[in-house]
Amino acid sequence: MGHHAFLQALPAYLGGKRRLAPLIFSTLAEVLPRAQWAGSTLLDPMCGGGAISLYAKAQGFSVIASDLAERGALTARALIANSNIRLRIDDILDLYAEPDGDYPRIAAAHVPQVFNEAQAAFVDNALARANRRPEPLRSLLQLVVVKTMLRFQPLSMLSATDAGAAATGDYDRLTASRLRHYLHADRLLRPSTLWSIAQEVNAGVFGGSGEASRGNAVTMITGTTANIVYLDPPYPGTTGYHTAYGVLDELLGDTPIASAVPLSLTDLLQAAEHIPLLVLSFGGPRVTLDQLREQVGQHRDVLRAIAVPYPHLRSVASEAHRVANRELIIIAG
Ligand SMILES: C[S@@+](CC[C@H](N)C(=O)[O-])C[C@H]1O[C@@H](n2cnc3c(N)ncnc32)[C@H](O)[C@@H]1O
Repeated sequence: MGHHAFLQALPAYLGGKRRLAPLIFSTLAEVLPRAQWAGSTLLDPMCGGGAISLYAKAQGFSVIASDLAERGALTARALIANSNIRLRIDDILDLYAEPDGDYPRIAAAHVPQVFNEAQAAFVDNALARANRRPEPLRSLLQLVVVKTMLRFQPLSMLSATDAGAAATGDYDRLTASRLRHYLHADRLLRPSTLWSIAQEVNAGVFGGSGEASRGNAVTMITGTTANIVYLDPPYPGTTGYHTAYGVLDELLGDTPIASAVPLSLTDLLQAAEHIPLLVLSFGGPRVTLDQLREQVGQHRDVLRAIAVPYPHLRSVASEAHRVANRELIIIAG
């Protein structure tokens, strides 16, 4: 598992299915032969970091990826809808150029709780520069900046709760006049590091068929013709993604309300009635495999139901008080 270089392109969001993708697709092969994958369309309407979409694209599916949050939609635009534009070194160097005119200083408003000054200056500058570029370069560059930000903190999350740990050392005392020095001192903010992250992103750009969209999953499912729908709703009872990623969402122009619309599994199952095959991932401690099989069974025939050990929210496991280490996967016809 996890030996596919292209999966390195994806941001390490919580709840991402990078490591589960091979298992999900080998189970899918039992009910839909691989020979039919190239002629099939898979809809991933809450694509998040995009692991299932990118894996599906690599397997020859036509993929439609969408998410309510910009942090998911940008991955869909950068890697699913885009099949041939890659970042060049000049695109990365442009992130360091002075933005012309006024630009939002959103990260600066989160110093020192989330970022130190040099990080904030870099993020605000780089996002302003990325925003000037045409698609898909804009989304590719946003993805590079997001992946960089996720590395600022060891926990791959940007919540205010963890920020204390991030605000360490003399870096916090940095004045603007020392920014230049710091840009060279902080490994993560160097152009050479950004270029290596860009190369990870580039490994996720390959030929195939994909579309990107943004919106509510239920609306998206209702309005889309596809052979397969993959449902991966946020786990009930865990910290909402909009909390864990509040600052990231703000930086990308989302309001907290926009990404806090609750998703009901029943609504999703009802909306998906016109789609022949359904794959559902479900985690967290609140639902058993039998309960989930029964709930899905009220809408369609359950073909496969498996529980696999999976490190849920591994990075916050101690805070989440022993979130059950398993993921439920259901395939229904
Ligand atoms: C468990 S994550 C998906 C992870 C993804 N499969 C991956 O591998 O990275 C759940 C996603 O649902 C999205 N989401 C939450 N509410 C939504 C809604 N109403 N419509 C669409 N997407 C939604 C969140 O933004 C989040 O990206």
